Amino acid sequence: MLYESVDRPKIELLVRTFYDRVLRDEILNPFFIKALGNDLDNGKWYEHLHTLDNFWLLMMNGESGYRGDPFPAHAFIGPLTRSDFEQWLKLFKQTVDELFIPEIAEKFYKKADILAEQFIENLGIEDDDDDW
Ligand code: HEM
Repeated sequence: MLYESVDRPKIELLVRTFYDRVLRDEILNPFFIKALGNDLDNGKWYEHLHTLDNFWLLMMNGESGYRGDPFPAHAFIGPLTRSDFEQWLKLFKQTVDELFIPEIAEKFYKKADILAEQFIENLGIEDDDDDW
C-alpha cells in the first residue's frame, strides 16, 4: 500500500530508507561517511536524519522546523559532480516511488530536482561532458 498523504512518521521512514540506501551506494557513500561516519545510529547521523525530517516536512507540508540553509553543507564535501547528483536523485526517486502514490512522489522529486539544480549552479559544477 502506497501512502496517500505526508506526515512526520512517513517522512521519517522515507529519510531513513533513503540514507540507508545512500550508505550502501558506492558512488555516494564516501561523501557521507567522511562527514557523518558509516553508522546510521551514531550521533552525527541522528542529527542529520532529524534535520532532513524537518527539511522535507517544510518542503512538502510547509511545516516550519527547518531553519537552516542546505547550501553550505555541500560546499566543502566535494568535489561533487553532476553525475553524483544524478545518482542521488535516482536513489531518491526510487525510494519515494516505493512509498508514496505517484502524485505525491512527483512533488517530492520536483522539489529535489530544483534543489539539485540550484546546488549544481551554486557550486559552479560544470557538465561532466565538458571535460574533454
Ligand atoms: C551528490 C549529492 C549530495 C551529497 C553527496 C550530499 C551530502 C550531504 C552531506 C554529507 C550532508 C551533511 C553535512 C554535515 O552535516 O556535515 C548533507 C546535508 C544536507 N543535504 Fe545533502 N547531499 C547531496 C544532495 C542533496 C540534495 C539534492 C538535497 C535536497 C534535495 C540535499 C539536502 C540536504 C540538507 C537539507 C542537508 C542538511 C543541511 C543543514 O545542516 O542544514 N542534499 N548533504
